[in-house]
Amino acid sequence: MITATDLHKEFNGGAVKALRGVSLTIKQGSFVAIIGASGSGKSTLMNVLSGLERADSGTVVACGQDLSAMTDKQLNEFRREYVGFVFQQYYLLPHLSVEKNVRLGADLAGNKNYLREIEAVGLADKLKAMPSALSGGEQQRVCIARALAKKPQILFLDEPTGALDESTGRSVLDYIAKLKAERGFTMVMVTHNRNIADMADSVVEMNSGKIIGVTDNPSPKSAYEIGW
Ligand SMILES: Nc1ncnc2c1ncn2[C@@H]1O[C@H](COP(=O)(O)OP(=O)(O)OP(=O)(O)O)[C@@H](O)[C@H]1O
Ligand SMILES: [Mg+2]
Repeated sequence: MITATDLHKEFNGGAVKALRGVSLTIKQGSFVAIIGASGSGKSTLMNVLSGLERADSGTVVACGQDLSAMTDKQLNEFRREYVGFVFQQYYLLPHLSVEKNVRLGADLAGNKNYLREIEAVGLADKLKAMPSALSGGEQQRVCIARALAKKPQILFLDEPTGALDESTGRSVLDYIAKLKAERGFTMVMVTHNRNIADMADSVVEMNSGKIIGVTDNPSPKSAYEIGW
């Protein structure tokens, strides 16, 4: 469960108000999709919910812990222990191969079976490749494998299929959904693809730093049932 209360976050000395009073509850084990226009505050909200960044005011309680009251060191430990993150901009370690990037995640969880994740995202033949030799979509898939290999309790994904073609996107989403069913983690995903939001238990829509709607979805679809 994640409970955010009245989050505010500004940049550039207040010139940009990225979050303007955001409150949100995410149930344990649920899948929440966040949609909204570019610049509406989606990534900022994910960063604050996951403890990567601090809000200027407001509180975040996740996994029973008050992130807003933590020191930087405690926030680091919280993220290491509980959070998996797939970034909009990939962020792979450039000097490490595909296998080693994923192993970084796996080692944190003592996960010896991380090749399963690499295979599932279709990169078994790229184990030794360096990130600079990969396409955008391949780098994105390494990030997904790394986050899953860490066996997080909360998985945050920021546009995880933005660089993937339809067939790869569907198969990666299907694998993520299967792992979620198996492991029961909570999942928060930013997507500009409203079809993908049909897979979620609930859809949060943002506009100009605010939540303008939350829609519960009584019958989420599978990755192969949604439009694209
Ligand atoms: N580090 C930063 N410094 C200055 N401004 C920032 C920073 N991060 C975000 N912003 C601004 O805050 C606002 C919200 O940005 P955010 O990245 O959260 O939007 P987004 O909804 O994720 O957009 P997109 O769909 O394009 O990824 C934007 O106006 C953006 O320019
Ligand atoms: Mg963003």
